[in-house]
This record gives sequence, C-alpha cells and structure tokens, in this order.
Amino acid sequence: MKRDVKEFKSCLKPSPDVVVSCRGANGQDNALVVAYACNCSYDPPMVMVGIVPSRYSYHMVKETGVFVVNLVAEKNKEAFDYLGSHSGRDENKLEKLSLNYKEGVKVAAPVLLDFPVNIECEVVDSIKTGSHEMFVGKVVYIHADEELIDDEGRIVFSRIK
Ligand SMILES: Cc1cc2nc3c(=O)[nH]c(=O)nc-3n(C[C@H](O)[C@H](O)[C@H](O)COP(=O)(O)O)c2cc1C
Repeated sequence: MKRDVKEFKSCLKPSPDVVVSCRGANGQDNALVVAYACNCSYDPPMVMVGIVPSRYSYHMVKETGVFVVNLVAEKNKEAFDYLGSHSGRDENKLEKLSLNYKEGVKVAAPVLLDFPVNIECEVVDSIKTGSHEMFVGKVVYIHADEELIDDEGRIVFSRIK
C-alpha cells in the first residue's frame, strides 16, 4: 500500500553533507556545511553546490567565483557541526576551530587539510532554483589524503572513514 506524502522538502536522501570553503573579496576565509551538493557532469568534471542567499558564504562565492568542496570523515564531526551552525559573519570559524588549511593550487580559496578530500572548483554558471542558488563548479584540482588514492590516482571512497 502507498500513502500520499505531505512533505516535499529535500526529498532525495541520503544527502552528501560536504563542507564548502571559500574566501570573500575582503580576503576573509570561511566554510559552511552544504547538503545540496551533487555531481552534475563527468566530461568536463563538474559539481554543483546549493547555497542559500542569506548565508555569509553566499556573497563570498558570488564575488570570487571559486569554492572548494571538502568531503567529510568521522574525525571531522566536531568541525562539521560547528561550521553548519555558526556564521562567519560573527567570527572566523576556521581560526575558532584551529583548522589547518592551505591555499588552493588553482583557486584563491582555502583547502581544509583536516578533511580527507578537497575539490577545487571554478564557478561556470549558477541557477536560482528557489530557496537556494545552485553554483555549478568546474573541477580544476583535487587533493586527497595519500592513503585514499589507488595506483591509478583515483580516490577509493570506501577508505574514507
Ligand atoms: C546538515 C546540514 C546541511 C546544510 N545544508 C546547507 C545547504 O545545502 N545550503 C546552505 O546554504 N546551507 C546549508 N546548511 C546551513 C549552513 O551550513 C549554516 O547556516 C552555516 O552556519 C552558514 O555559515 P555562513 O553564514 O558562515 O556561510 C546546512 C547545515 C547543516 C547542519
């Protein structure tokens, strides 16, 4: 038997739950949790992240046109919870959490070294879908912890704890 579902919000599950790091035009680094994230092309490789315009990070991605998608492991739980519930408008979250980060190779945004995989992206398009603006990012560089990479240079996702 089927029944009608009344709640239509966010009906695709599970969601990936990544951390998107970015930098504002003022040079401030920031990061937020994003569940609206997906692959959207493999040739060329592209991913899409959805950011609500009221987020502090939204203006940063709009202004600079770049972001980094950081995949999340079990060890990142504390940072994940904090980044998804506090705003860079009020504090520097990366410093508060003592996160290690380095400059992107291809993009001017922070690569969060404590997270297992970091995907540098350049915005090539965006779509205002409703609550979110979906930023389409061309993948321009990927960093991964060495134990996650196989002999062909591919990420072995099952090794991420
Ligand atoms: C599990 C989870 C998923 C979230 N997904 C999104 C999302 O897809 N898009 C978004 O804009 N905010 C999302 N958020 C909320 C932001 O991460 C949160 O509002 C954050 O504090 C914004 O930080 P900022 O103001 O520094 O940009 C999510 C939060 C959590 C905990």
